[in-house]
Amino acid sequence: MFITATAPAKVILFGEHAVVYGKPAIAVPVSGIRASASLDTHVPDGHGLRIIAPDLEPARDVDDALSLTARLVFDALGTPLPDANVVVQSQIPIASGLGSGAAVSTALARVLSAAVDCPFDLATLNALIYEVEKVHHGTPSGIDNTVIVYERPVYFVRECPIEHIAIGMPFTLVIADTGQRAPTRESVGDVRKLLETQPEQTQPILDSIAEIAEAARFAIETGNAVELGHLMSSNHQLLQKLTVSSTELDTLIKAAESAGALGAKLSGGGRGGNMIALVTLESAKTIAQALMDAGAYRVISTLVS
Ligand code: PMV
Repeated sequence: MFITATAPAKVILFGEHAVVYGKPAIAVPVSGIRASASLDTHVPDGHGLRIIAPDLEPARDVDDALSLTARLVFDALGTPLPDANVVVQSQIPIASGLGSGAAVSTALARVLSAAVDCPFDLATLNALIYEVEKVHHGTPSGIDNTVIVYERPVYFVRECPIEHIAIGMPFTLVIADTGQRAPTRESVGDVRKLLETQPEQTQPILDSIAEIAEAARFAIETGNAVELGHLMSSNHQLLQKLTVSSTELDTLIKAAESAGALGAKLSGGGRGGNMIALVTLESAKTIAQALMDAGAYRVISTLVS
């Protein structure tokens, strides 16, 4: 038997960080960039389950997450580990806000459960990947695993039923990587410290981010791209106040806005990783080039529909 399963990357459009504190956030899958897991049972008896991730690093973290995923899968299913090799690969850059960890674990859990003929339903898979995320990210909100497992745009509030958003009018995002890797655990920890030490300044920022996410949902559902762009840029200013932007992110965001983007912001944990710019089909190429000229390490365009 040889089977493959995959899972997409994701971007958070609105509400990162505030979502950790029960505020709403919006995320969409990036289906063109994926993680995959391919399982091959053509191995000798007694071979055991070997998970190989040739091009994923930093190796130890990834290895831990993959072993944990496999353990949780077989605990949940109550079946013995099959004899097989599993090769895990990912086109998603690590630690850059695109959900590489959740995507890799999702692809692996999918292929393992399919191999023993008990494919998980989406809700079970989502809960399982959330457990992996908790071990590796501290206090994740659960938005990454949710958008990646369901592969649909989500309006997400912690511990509330998942709401999928209808996209009123497809829109194009340019995603640019600063090339800086930034562990989400650290930026989340720093925002927590800020909230603890300066609650009067920090709580209103989180509240404003929540209002923006609400307004953005309406703009997405009604296809109001101009409003959506403004909301993205406003959200970025609030993320700057939370201290999770970086010089490199701000440079790329300015470059996108100067080149005609409708709006731009960092996406994910921040302090590096990726930014997103809302563009029109006509301006996408010019803005992508402006981002490369401003020092982006990699630029990808994606249609959200
Ligand atoms: O950096 P990412 O893609 O893992 O996104 C993190 C989003 C945060 O809101 C900062 C944390 C979370 O758990 O939601």
